[in-house]
Amino acid sequence: MPEYQTPPISPMAIAFDAEKLTLSPEGPTLTRRMSDLEGLFRDHDAWSAAASGDDPIVYTVVSSPVPEVERELPQSITTIMPGDTAGELWMTKGHQHPDHQGEIYLALHGRGGLLMFDGERTEWLDMLPGTIGYIPPGWAHRSVNTGDEPYSFLAVYPGGAGHDYGWVLERGMGSRAFRAESGVDLRPYAE
Ligand SMILES: [Fe+2]
Repeated sequence: MPEYQTPPISPMAIAFDAEKLTLSPEGPTLTRRMSDLEGLFRDHDAWSAAASGDDPIVYTVVSSPVPEVERELPQSITTIMPGDTAGELWMTKGHQHPDHQGEIYLALHGRGGLLMFDGERTEWLDMLPGTIGYIPPGWAHRSVNTGDEPYSFLAVYPGGAGHDYGWVLERGMGSRAFRAESGVDLRPYAE
């Protein structure tokens, strides 16, 4: 399996294919199945049935070889499959950066949304190919597939920012995104 490079990193060109959704040379690939998303969907029974059933892949993340270490600037392409669990649209786990630093997402394919929560305020950005979603420091972030085909985006982020998934389990994301006739129905997290 490809791995992150070991610092110090040399200047390098990375081939970015927005059609094939690849980065080359490639780094590690992450696959999140339904069973990896425990405690995140509102309907626990529906989640449990899906996780213990065919346990579908919900999203994948392919990375470049640039490592997740301080001062480096890694990149990755996330692809979220279309679907919903009891109406709640398939999504990433969502995380906060333990070291509050910004990040950008560039939508590449399909339709999606970027849900952000700073612990008090919630923001939602519609993400269509060509949209750059800016995530300011201190805002937890989750991506959602709002369409009926895979939704993909490129992320560029500070390598030392880290990923705190427990933050979301503890505090939620402010809102949840449900499938609606037109677009998305955002509902309060706890309802
Ligand atoms: Fe992030």
